Amino acid sequence: MTDFLDATRTSYDTVAADYADILRTALADSTFDRAMLAAFAELVGDGPVADIGCGPGRVTAHLHGLGLDAFGVDLSPGMVEVARRDHPDLRFEVGSMLDLDLPDASLAGLLAWYSVIHVPTDLLPGAFAEFHRVLAPGGYALLAFQVGDEVVHVTQGYGHDVDLEAYRRSPDAVGAQLAEAGLAAHSTLVRQPEGKEKTPQAYLLVRKQS
Ligand SMILES: C[S@@+](CC[C@H](N)C(=O)[O-])C[C@H]1O[C@@H](n2cnc3c(N)ncnc32)[C@H](O)[C@@H]1O
Repeated sequence: MTDFLDATRTSYDTVAADYADILRTALADSTFDRAMLAAFAELVGDGPVADIGCGPGRVTAHLHGLGLDAFGVDLSPGMVEVARRDHPDLRFEVGSMLDLDLPDASLAGLLAWYSVIHVPTDLLPGAFAEFHRVLAPGGYALLAFQVGDEVVHVTQGYGHDVDLEAYRRSPDAVGAQLAEAGLAAHSTLVRQPEGKEKTPQAYLLVRKQS
């Protein structure tokens, strides 16, 4: 397990500052992403919300702006440093979605926005078990990821050499794994690629049973 986590951490440490600069205004250009996040925010309402794999905190800050009590967790200390620099009023911690340092049933909502893409498929059930553990009964999780069935070995990103894997997935397969973890489907939405995107994008909203 250590090898892929080390590779992912090192790659995102390398790109953190440029990733933040390049994506700083991306949400403003994505009507659909904002719509999904708005629906999630409205459903979650009050209570703590963790942005797991928050990167530079751009989406954490957006959720905060929608009125949520949002904080971020990321594997990459470099990303967390940038997130704290850019959003000093918000809380960001280093951590892995495979072993979250959060109490049981402590969250009203959990966002995993293009972060499960770096978790090998055989380890996804472990991540989803963690999502289930930390969500309160009735809590919502929203996941976004690229649709497909390939594992992409990424060697270049945001102007840097990197070395990590990104997993494209079927929404049905991910939905089935979430359901097995006790996170029941609320909505599954797929949109066609926009701009530089190469594949359709999936958004899965699930809910922990009450
Ligand atoms: C494509 S970026 C997305 C960042 C952010 N969600 C956004 O949309 O800007 C993927 C992020 O997931 C983080 N990540 C990857 N594997 C992780 C893990 N096991 N636990 C926590 N974060 C992870 C990476 O460090 C990186 O910051």
